[in-house]
Amino acid sequence: MTMSINEHGPHGPQGLMDSGSGLEPQPTPVAPTDAQALREAFGRFPSGVIAVCGMVDDRPVGMAVSSFTSVSLAPPLVSVCLQTSSRTWPKLRQLPRLGLSVLGEQQGEVCRGLAGAEETRFAEVHWEATGEGAVVLPGAVTWYTCTLRAELPAGDHTIALLEIDRLWTLPSAEPLVFHGSRFRRLDDGDRSAVPA
Ligand SMILES: Cc1cc2nc3c(=O)[nH]c(=O)nc-3n(C[C@H](O)[C@H](O)[C@H](O)COP(=O)(O)O)c2cc1C
Repeated sequence: MTMSINEHGPHGPQGLMDSGSGLEPQPTPVAPTDAQALREAFGRFPSGVIAVCGMVDDRPVGMAVSSFTSVSLAPPLVSVCLQTSSRTWPKLRQLPRLGLSVLGEQQGEVCRGLAGAEETRFAEVHWEATGEGAVVLPGAVTWYTCTLRAELPAGDHTIALLEIDRLWTLPSAEPLVFHGSRFRRLDDGDRSAVPA
């Protein structure tokens, strides 16, 4: 099957797939200057949620982040994107070690808390600090302790590149999924016809 990809989108000017494809007509394309449309489009991409946390003046500081990406195996690198307006990232970026916790499926409330009012972020959250001041959350699927290696300005965000120092994984634990502005769980059923 061939598909046309042009200024009208992947399905041509009529917004229709090739005959016989069986797919629905596609919506009209919009410019990426439409912030709401852009947010919705980005929200269609499912992700996990990470808590990025560390000890500042003997208190835990952190924030919820869905922009986590694995970047490199050697050296072991991950990235997160932080809003330039963030009041928490300027504190975290100065720490020698950061804890990254991949939130588990039961941690939707934890995530909400870590995106909420600064003073109460850890009020209802169990946390543990490593000797180096990284903060990780019990109940998470994976913990990483990381060192910040680089930052790249990227529009209204900063891309932070972090090198992994240590990691712990609970293979049987299921992650929290963030999709379409909602928290979800992975479905047990395998709906994909093609193995990944
Ligand atoms: C599910 C979810 C995902 C989020 N992802 C990000 C993210 O990738 N980057 C970011 O800067 N903020 C993200 N936030 C917002 C932060 O958690 C936090 O609310 C925001 O940074 C404002 O707080 P601050 O000024 O203390 O940083 C996310 C919030 C939620 C609920």
